[in-house]
Amino acid sequence: MAQWNIVRTSDAVWLAPGEPREIESDLVSRFQEEYGRAASGTWFAPGRANLNGEHIDFHAGRCLPLALAHGTYVAAAPRTDSQLRMRTLDASLDDGVSTVALDQIGPAAPHAESPDPSEVAELPTGDAEHWSHYVTGVLWALRELGRTQPEFQLEAGFGADILVISTLPIGGGLSSSAALECAAMMAFVALGTPLGLQNPLQDLNAALTRENRKQLAAACVRAEVEFVGAGTGGLDQTIAMRARPGKVLSLDCRDFTVQPLDIGCILRGYRLIAVDTGEAHRLADGKFGDRRADAEAAAHLLGFTRLRDALPEKPRKADVTHVLEEFDRLAEQLESLDGRSIPACRRRLRHALTEMVRSEKLHHLLSGEAYGVRHVTSTVGDILTAGHMSMRDDAEVSFEVADLIVETALAHGAEGARLIGGGFGGSVLVLISPAAIPRLSAAFERISRNIRLLDVVPSAAAHAL
Ligand code: GLA
Repeated sequence: MAQWNIVRTSDAVWLAPGEPREIESDLVSRFQEEYGRAASGTWFAPGRANLNGEHIDFHAGRCLPLALAHGTYVAAAPRTDSQLRMRTLDASLDDGVSTVALDQIGPAAPHAESPDPSEVAELPTGDAEHWSHYVTGVLWALRELGRTQPEFQLEAGFGADILVISTLPIGGGLSSSAALECAAMMAFVALGTPLGLQNPLQDLNAALTRENRKQLAAACVRAEVEFVGAGTGGLDQTIAMRARPGKVLSLDCRDFTVQPLDIGCILRGYRLIAVDTGEAHRLADGKFGDRRADAEAAAHLLGFTRLRDALPEKPRKADVTHVLEEFDRLAEQLESLDGRSIPACRRRLRHALTEMVRSEKLHHLLSGEAYGVRHVTSTVGDILTAGHMSMRDDAEVSFEVADLIVETALAHGAEGARLIGGGFGGSVLVLISPAAIPRLSAAFERISRNIRLLDVVPSAAAHAL
């Protein structure tokens, strides 16, 4: 897929995060050309990598994501006629300006306190896959949030012109959707709510409290789940809104509390790189939801609404065995689970439970609670690789190129490697010493010419530039 921020070195093709001020100034002049007026500002939200915790955010598990320096930039200016005009500069998505009349997506929208899927907002155009739905959904969700939170109440007639550009590969499993949602959310808050209007751009970064960021992340989740119809669990929006530079967030999805943990101990002498396979994934295409439904059927059989509750506070492998035995006992006389294959549901269950155990282990390791671990990096590497095997064999969300990349990385001395994100396309995270990268990237080139590398540098949350 064509990407504008490609940097070719002698041994690899990298996607650069770019220089934010340069990207901003370019975007702002393109905005002037497109809309014939000045942008009021530019907002950025990062993509993410995840050390562990895939396909378990919606089961209330723990995830360990970190924000990338790569992300999505939104330049915007307010309107007073309830119109939202949107264009992206990403060549693979750009089809000119999309216009939505916001008063037409209003009446069917549910109230924040009574989300009822049967009352979901009407989609403004026929194409639910169009990128602009994520942006429209965010404005709808902010309007809903404003009903209960006065500081986020949008001005009557609020609308906006926006222009988007991203340094993330679209559909690359690095959370390009959430980066778009969160950057747009920042723009709308800044331009249309009391909190934004009372605080000049730079001050808004400081004015947003941690609780505000948590609320805005939750609103972006509503946009994606209720408006776009993708089954996100909140991992991506949380890291985009609440990341801390230099840290991995230990995110407990039972209550969405976060604990920033130092990642320096892993990266001493090592690098994390994200390998974009060039095979784009789509969350709204059904396979993601299908895997999730298998695991939910297993949870249902076990009598849990959240699979995390099937394990004790500090789970170990033996606890997983115990739950699987219980599942086998309950499923013994059944032919299917809600019409789903019992062995498949069991594999999804095993992925979710073992992934939860890996997350807890990582959390304890990185928070310094696991004394006596001498080789932190190699232990983290082993957890990454075990996570991949589980994505491949139990969650069954991996694919040929991703498996080949993991194998190749390990054969070239990587400490660990795994598929990250929702799967069925996307990126592999590799932990490796810098000296090994040239030979490894040459080997990647032999797997596919579409592979792109991104340096994973733990970066900051969504902000105004
Ligand atoms: C996507 C979803 C997230 C999460 C991951 C898999 O990125 O948006 O909520 O479920 O897949 O871990």
